[in-house]
Amino acid sequence: MNHEPLLRLFEDRPGEYISGESMSQELGVSRTAIWKQIRKLEAAGYHFEASRRLGYRLLSVPDNLAVEELTSRLNTRSFGKTIHYFETVESTQNLARTAAEEGAAEGTLFLAEQQVSGRGRMGRNWVSPRGKGVWMSMVMRPSVPIHFAPQLTLLTAVALCRSLKRVTSLPIGIKWPNDLLIGGKKISGILLESAAEDERLRYVIAGIGISVNLEESDYPVELLEKATSLRISAERKWVREDIIAEFLKEWEQLYFLYQEQGFSPIITLWEALSVSLGKTARLMTPQGDITGIPIGLDESGAIRIQLADGTVKPVFSAEMGEPL
Ligand code: BTN
Repeated sequence: MNHEPLLRLFEDRPGEYISGESMSQELGVSRTAIWKQIRKLEAAGYHFEASRRLGYRLLSVPDNLAVEELTSRLNTRSFGKTIHYFETVESTQNLARTAAEEGAAEGTLFLAEQQVSGRGRMGRNWVSPRGKGVWMSMVMRPSVPIHFAPQLTLLTAVALCRSLKRVTSLPIGIKWPNDLLIGGKKISGILLESAAEDERLRYVIAGIGISVNLEESDYPVELLEKATSLRISAERKWVREDIIAEFLKEWEQLYFLYQEQGFSPIITLWEALSVSLGKTARLMTPQGDITGIPIGLDESGAIRIQLADGTVKPVFSAEMGEPL
C-alpha cells in the first residue's frame, strides 16, 4: 500500500484524531494494513499520537531534504546534477561505488536521510541519525595518477571548510588531513575511496558527513568530548539544503582550479584554514609513531613534519593525535 492516500486523510483533518475504522473504510483496506502503514510512516520520521478510543492524530511530519528545490538552486556544471535520494541506507558509499562501477557520470550524488552502517576512516563507525545531517557520497572521475588521491581529500576539506564558514560564520578549522573542527571537536569527516587501473584513478567516491543538526543526545556518550555539531556549536538549527548547495558550488570551483592550475593554490588555501600547523603533535603512521611540528603541505599532499633534529619528513598517511 502506498502511503500517500493515508497521509492525505491526515492532512485533510489537521490536528484531528481519525479512527482506524474510518481510515480502513475510506481507503478500502484492512485495519491491519492501516496499522502497518502507520508503523512505516513512524519509521520514516512521522509522529502520531495514538488513542485507543479515538484513533490516530498526526503530530509532525519529518524535516526531509527538499531535493527538487536543491536541484533547482544548484548552478554547478556537474557536481550534484544527478541526485539519488534515499530515506535509509546502509552507507551512501556503497551505492555510489556500485553506480560508479556501472558508469555513473562524475558529479552523480547519493544523499540519505539516515545511514545504518555509516563508515568513517580507519574502519570506524559514523553516527548518521535520520534527518539531522548531510550524509552524502559523490562519484568523481579525475584524470590523475593514483598517488594524487590525497590531494583530492585535501581539496574536498578546503571546499567544505570554506563553504561551512560562509554559511554559518562559525570558527571552523581543518585538522590534518581532512577533519573539520570547532573548538577542537569534530563536526565533519571526509572519506575518499578509490578504484584504480594501471596506476590511474578509475573513479573516486568522495563521502562527506556533516553533523548539522545533531543534539547531544544523538551521540554515544564516549563521542561527546570529541564530536559536536553545527547546531550544538551555534545553538540554532541550520537548513541542510543551504549547506549542500554552497558546498557543491565551492567544491566544483576548487576542482576546476585544481585541474587548471594543479595543487599549489589548494595548498595555500588549506594552510590558511589549518589548525594543525605549528603545534607539536604525534602522528601514528603505518610505519610507527612520529613526533614533530607540522609545518605545511608538500606538492603531493603529504604533511611536512619538522623533527627534533631539524630535518623535515613528509608523512602521507597517519592519524594525528592532539597537539602535545
Ligand atoms: C571520517 O572518519 O572522518 C570520515 C567520515 C565519512 C562519513 C561519510 S557520511 C556519507 C558517507 N557514507 C559513509 O558511510 N561514510 C561517508
